[in-house]
Amino acid sequence: MKKRIGIFISGGGSNMRALVEDMDATHPAEPVVVVSNNPHAGGITWAQDAGLATVVVEHQPFGRDRIAFEAAITEALLPHNLDLICLAGFMRVLTAGFVTPWRDRMLNIHPSLLPKYRGLHTHARVLEAGDREHGCTVHLVTPELDDGPILGQARVPVEDGDTPDTLADRVLVQEHRLYPAVLRRFAAGERTPLML
Ligand code: GRF
Repeated sequence: MKKRIGIFISGGGSNMRALVEDMDATHPAEPVVVVSNNPHAGGITWAQDAGLATVVVEHQPFGRDRIAFEAAITEALLPHNLDLICLAGFMRVLTAGFVTPWRDRMLNIHPSLLPKYRGLHTHARVLEAGDREHGCTVHLVTPELDDGPILGQARVPVEDGDTPDTLADRVLVQEHRLYPAVLRRFAAGERTPLML
């Protein structure tokens, strides 16, 4: 039986698309549902056109009640019998109450070489620091933000004249290589970190 994957997005979902396109007949997992907090996420339209189930749970109506927002997601996920969740450009912080039941079964991609630069605006922070190397990390999700066990990393050089956008574009190319490669191994039970 293939592992059943739910992919969480908030926007265009370029990483989601890379994951879905890599899950071919040889892959130990299959994409089952794409979830978003944003009804206008371009990735939702793409997923629907690809014949995937989609779930939209807008976070705004729940205001500051993260628990209720997450309970609505959990309820919507139940019929899909997921084995793994891949966060892919999902821009909501998830509480320990949601993350803990998914311990060792939820992955995330973060645009930095963790443990450096947890949080937002990683590309600008790398440039401000004058780093000559940058990259992305796939990790298991724990209640601490961007802090779980590392499953893979890919590195890119920082070039003279880089802006946050040129750097983000270079990192994103590597994200689309790294995340599918890590998921393919993880779904087959391989946990040793993959360094590209
Ligand atoms: C990317 O920078 C990714 O590293 C981060 O969210 C951004 C958008 O990802 N997780 P995507 O294009 O929506 O997959």
